[in-house]
Amino acid sequence: MTVDKTTIFKARRKRFAEAIGKGAVAVIPSAPVAVRSRDVEFPYHQDHDFYYLSGFDEPESVIIIAPEHPEGEFAMLVRPRDKDREIWTGRRAGVEGALALFGADKAFTIDELDDVLPRYLRDAERVFYSLGGDERMNARMIQLMRASEANRERYGVGPTALLDPREILHEHRLFKQPEELDAMRRAIAISADAHRRAMATAKGGSGEWEIQALLEYAFRSQGATGPAYPSIVASGANATVLHYIHNDRRMEQGDLLLIDAGSEYDFYASDITRTFPVGTRFNDAQRDLYQLVLEAQLKGIAAVKPGVSFETPHEAAVRTLVEGMRELKLLAGAVDDLISTGAYRQFYMHRTSHWLGMDVHDVGLYRVDGESRKLEPGMVLTIEPGIYIAADDDSAPAQMRGIGIRIEDDVLVTPGGHEVLSAQIPKSVAEIESLTAA
Ligand code: GLY
Ligand code: MN
Ligand code: MN
Repeated sequence: MTVDKTTIFKARRKRFAEAIGKGAVAVIPSAPVAVRSRDVEFPYHQDHDFYYLSGFDEPESVIIIAPEHPEGEFAMLVRPRDKDREIWTGRRAGVEGALALFGADKAFTIDELDDVLPRYLRDAERVFYSLGGDERMNARMIQLMRASEANRERYGVGPTALLDPREILHEHRLFKQPEELDAMRRAIAISADAHRRAMATAKGGSGEWEIQALLEYAFRSQGATGPAYPSIVASGANATVLHYIHNDRRMEQGDLLLIDAGSEYDFYASDITRTFPVGTRFNDAQRDLYQLVLEAQLKGIAAVKPGVSFETPHEAAVRTLVEGMRELKLLAGAVDDLISTGAYRQFYMHRTSHWLGMDVHDVGLYRVDGESRKLEPGMVLTIEPGIYIAADDDSAPAQMRGIGIRIEDDVLVTPGGHEVLSAQIPKSVAEIESLTAA
């Protein structure tokens, strides 16, 4: 790891340590290894909270953050160096690396956990640990808490509270620092290139899987880890299935192709959707619906600025969609009624936004004190309205059935309003057709 990066992770730990305060100890385990089948594992992916604080991406590790603890504020428990194992599964930092490269004040091997944890917990007042998916670790922590109760009766010290570190950590992660925005911009630039290539390449007869391969080639060949989530390459009526990931249909010239695909770069996700006609121009029904989704998306984006609630872009997008759906004879009735009854959900059944960061659906509260949260500079969210008309929906005009359209951009809240981080990807009808009908 470079010196710069060590400084960044150290600053994050310092901020977190200040937030949990003296007398607290936080224990954060690495992600478990997931088995794909029998002896084959999924490629390892580190827990994002663990990585955010440590920059360490090995499994079977635990970090301890203990502000002003006499043994040191930052302890790491890691796999030991092991010549034989490293021949099979690659290099390990080991205790030496944890100290020299990752800024640990103290480092131990992971098999010392049962000795080390009680030493840190014994005198703590508050323990921060989130009961996660690792049942053995959960059981160990609960047992330690029980043991310390007895200690407290006898000696008057020991933790009285088990708290969730995510309350604090996720609030930190919600506001992106410059180095995080750099990684997100890079992930987005790579995705932008991939989406442009897909628009220019897809033709009647192309397999959805071929376009998926092209996208993911563009991701990997430009230094991304890969897709940040399973790529959706949905042609024709497949686009009306929100989480379609089979990607096994051969598309026809003139189908709409909905691509929801974003690369992950250095642990940061991008999340981008474009919808375009395969190998030609939009037909009339496609264009009418596309223009409506685009208008709703632009209204949603225009609403993004500090001080407005998280719901405001959604409300702006929904109102625009509902007005347009009436004009296109998809819905009938008063706009306010169609909104308040939720009748529009027949064609728009998901939300307009979510936070974006290390996770594609990133961490951070959407509601605070019972109210929708206000946007603030440094937050990144998606704006992604859509229209989905089932192929067998007899209530819709015939030429619109089987059309699914979504347009999704990644938007940073800035002091003056917003910046569309993915603005470089074509989305006007003219821009798109200059690629698809070239
Ligand atoms: N790709 C997942 C989403 O758009 O939320
Ligand atoms: Mn999204
Ligand atoms: Mn998406």
